[in-house]
Amino acid sequence: MAKILEKMVLGPGIKSLVIDSPLIARKSRPGQFVVLRISEKGERIPLTIADWNSERGTIKIVFQEVGKTTKHLGSMSVGDEIIDIVGPMGQPSEIKFYGTVAIVAGGVGVAEAYPIARALKSIGNRVIAIIGARSKDLLVMAEEIKEVVDELFLTTDDGSMGRWGLVTDQLRDILSEGMTINRVITIGPVIMMKAVSEITRKFNLPTIASLNPIMIDATGMCGGCRVYVGGETKFTCIDGPEFDAHKVDFDLLILRLNMYKDKEQIADKVCV
Ligand SMILES: Cc1cc2nc3c(=O)[nH]c(=O)nc-3n(C[C@H](O)[C@H](O)[C@H](O)COP(=O)(O)OP(=O)(O)OC[C@H]3O[C@@H](n4cnc5c(N)ncnc54)[C@H](O)[C@@H]3O)c2cc1C
Ligand code: FES
Repeated sequence: MAKILEKMVLGPGIKSLVIDSPLIARKSRPGQFVVLRISEKGERIPLTIADWNSERGTIKIVFQEVGKTTKHLGSMSVGDEIIDIVGPMGQPSEIKFYGTVAIVAGGVGVAEAYPIARALKSIGNRVIAIIGARSKDLLVMAEEIKEVVDELFLTTDDGSMGRWGLVTDQLRDILSEGMTINRVITIGPVIMMKAVSEITRKFNLPTIASLNPIMIDATGMCGGCRVYVGGETKFTCIDGPEFDAHKVDFDLLILRLNMYKDKEQIADKVCV
């Protein structure tokens, strides 16, 4: 059982929770995630650890209400308890000195990128963030990201904040203008990560994508989270979630994410 200590609404259907979880908080590293279950019969869902405080013994998650479990989680209140929460899971991000790193993130991927940006900056990298959302209401943690990066570019699809357009427009422009970037890390919707990797491939620029397939057991046993990377099958829960973006079969990932769409829609309508 893990108690919810704080709850914030960050935008329409986007919420953050601070959860009492001392053991996970003590071990968390950038890029890792937790798997939680809300009720006895509930499914287990993975959510990135967006921040943690090892002294206070808390972790923070930021999530978008897309289906049954995330909507249920979003309806919980301060003082409620999550039945089980496991983590930290997954391989931590590689935090090394690269020179200039560009973090290209969209939607709730911005929250997921925050600890990675902070860790890269703390060891002397120049960190550029290009973050975007469909509109300004959906842009999360922009202030927090701004505090830990050297340069911030904002984009919105509808032009309500920052540059009108997509994060990939901004990335393409700065690369075409000759800005030196040594590594790109991309986190967000799969279609966005695919587009980012197509651009950086042309510039021969090492790129890491944090993948978000459907996960079931998150122990490497069920194969639900399998992705095809560089001609090999990898399990995102134990081998990832970060992979060389230029080797990822994004089309297969998109197909697999839609595999249970009809069942998810039915589940969403059925009461707990
Ligand atoms: C390692 C990892 C970290 C993640 N971190 C976060 C996070 O920090 N914040 C966050 O909001 N989400 C995150 N996700 C995605 C999150 O796990 C899913 O949104 C959640 O499982 C959906 O559950 P649901 O029952 O609410 O919706 P479902 O009914 O399962 O799905 C509803 C809709 O969302 C789509 N969907 C389901 N899973 C995903 C997914 N993984 N990616 C994209 N679309 C999906 C489905 O195709 C469907 O259309 C992460 C996923 C992974 C694998
Ligand atoms: S979720 Fe089962 S192997 Fe990764």
